[in-house]
Amino acid sequence: MHHFEYRDGQLFAEDVPVARLAEEFGTPLYVYSAATFSRHFEIFDAAFNELPHLTCYSVKANSNLSVLNLLAKKGAGMDIVSGGELYRALAAGVPADKIVYSGVGKRPEEIKEALEAGILMFNVESQAELVRINEIAQAMGTRARISLRINPDVDPQTHPYISTGMKKNKFGLDMETSMQAYALAKSLPALDPVGLDCHIGSQLTSIEPFKEAMDKLMAFHDRLTGELGLDIKYLDLGGGLGIQYNEEDPPHPEVFAQALIPVLKERPLTVILEPGRVIAGNSGLLITKVVYTKDTPSKHFVIVDAAMNDLTRPALYGSYHRIAEVEPRHRTASIVDVVGPICESSDFLARERTMSAVQSGELLAVFSAGAYGFSMSSQYNSRCRAAEVLVDGATVTLARARETYEDLVALERGGLK
Ligand code: LLP
Repeated sequence: MHHFEYRDGQLFAEDVPVARLAEEFGTPLYVYSAATFSRHFEIFDAAFNELPHLTCYSVKANSNLSVLNLLAKKGAGMDIVSGGELYRALAAGVPADKIVYSGVGKRPEEIKEALEAGILMFNVESQAELVRINEIAQAMGTRARISLRINPDVDPQTHPYISTGMKKNKFGLDMETSMQAYALAKSLPALDPVGLDCHIGSQLTSIEPFKEAMDKLMAFHDRLTGELGLDIKYLDLGGGLGIQYNEEDPPHPEVFAQALIPVLKERPLTVILEPGRVIAGNSGLLITKVVYTKDTPSKHFVIVDAAMNDLTRPALYGSYHRIAEVEPRHRTASIVDVVGPICESSDFLARERTMSAVQSGELLAVFSAGAYGFSMSSQYNSRCRAAEVLVDGATVTLARARETYEDLVALERGGLK
């Protein structure tokens, strides 16, 4: 469910006509719905109410401060993967003790910053990282709460680039190495091994891989308690629940939770969840304007002012995003490629898509762009990054101003007249 609907022949974001936003803020423009973000968070979080739990929104999905702030006010914790994300989460008012830190390559200064802030837990991905965190915590005269990220070798049946829990992936540690790593963690003076973590992939549309991973984790939990005598308090199940982009039929968060709760209930664990896409994905649109149309003997092209630098998912993963007119005019349809102005053939938003015969100057809405949209954008081809607005009922807030040409060169030295 989202709050982008057609009323009186035009697309609205909550109570605001999208065309008005495009007029006021220009295009390409990211438009977020506060009510949708809130609703998605509340539904997901409430689905786990039977258990002691903490929902840590995965910042990488959409890291705009307004979004983080909105979710922080709802009580969300955050899953971070860099010092930059820590900075954003703290700036948005997220209490440090609701922050978990994942990622295979945490740098010493990032570890120090997280320890200074007093985060809840590091999700550690190697023995070398354990040793590093111990050293830094010891030097600071503090202790670090840690979990190890287990790679349960489960096939999440998703795009290979976003599958993370198979043994060929760089993430986490296999079960046997993890046992040794927990023993090491137990022996290191500045570490508190309090958690167990896994994240098997993203855009999962079936519950089975989650269940399989959880069962493996439960067996592993028994070993940690039995063989090492560890008192594990937190079980972090990561993120990964998919959303509907096209014809996928992902489980509702309630169904997802109910599949896991019976097993989890048996254990004295606080469950941590790290949803990103399921909160943010359908909470945002990318609005773009048609610059030209072009017909060649083999293709009809709709050339728009948004490109792979704004939304890279189609170019990177071949992802499908629904594209629709902001003000539908019901003309004959044809099969088109919707492409951007960037000098690469991978610069497309849609291929072989049946669409009404849109004309130059008209607005299109790219749906499901709230997750991994702006947060993956770049300035490639020296294109200024798009503006972002947050709509809340009839109230519109500019969440990030459009970049300017001066912004493009602001950090560069030399060459300026
Ligand atoms: N936790 C960890 C440790 C993660 O690596 C991720 C995502 C999440 C949580 C959140 O996963 P989600 O609930 O959003 O599926 N750029 C790709 C997605 C990459 C996901 C990376 N990790 C895309 O556009 O599809």
